[in-house]
Amino acid sequence: GVTDDLARAEALIRTIPDYPEPGVQFRDITPLLADAAALSTVIDALIDPFAGEFDVVAGIEARGFLLAGAVATRADVGLVPIRKAGKLPRPAASVAYSLEYGSATIEVHDDIAPGTRVLLVDDVLATGGTLRAAHELMPRIGGSVVGTAVLLELLALGGRALVPDVRTVFTV
Ligand code: PRP
Repeated sequence: GVTDDLARAEALIRTIPDYPEPGVQFRDITPLLADAAALSTVIDALIDPFAGEFDVVAGIEARGFLLAGAVATRADVGLVPIRKAGKLPRPAASVAYSLEYGSATIEVHDDIAPGTRVLLVDDVLATGGTLRAAHELMPRIGGSVVGTAVLLELLALGGRALVPDVRTVFTV
């Protein structure tokens, strides 16, 4: 059943100690992505809470893209890439946000009609800063965020406080 399929997919998330720096436990989803059944299962799980409720998927660079494209094609909707600053030729909106050290900016093109219902998709929820910034970005291009779907929530970092609507497939 679905529960077994999800458990099998979750077991394919690999923990790498001390990456990218000492003391950090990096959660590596590449073994899950490489497995056809696990990938299919998690794409369905990302869509399920929001099925029929969104017109476009907005995926966040870079690892969010790996999931967002699959979500979009399976849900039969289009895809809007949310990119790191400087990667898009004609950014229509930018939002800067704080990181643990320093700051970052994300940008997006203005390629959707006013009132488009947007599902935000990313791989990991950590501090929540990235997805909160993505929430700010969408209304600037006329998008209305109707949901946020994330593969893995890192509970210790408390990002849900910044992104209360998030639905996560797995937690650790
Ligand atoms: C990671 C991850 C999320 C974000 C989560 O991306 O893919 O987008 O961090 O962190 P937050 O909740 O603290 O904002 P990263 O910036 O490492 O970029 P990448 O996907 O290009 O590796």
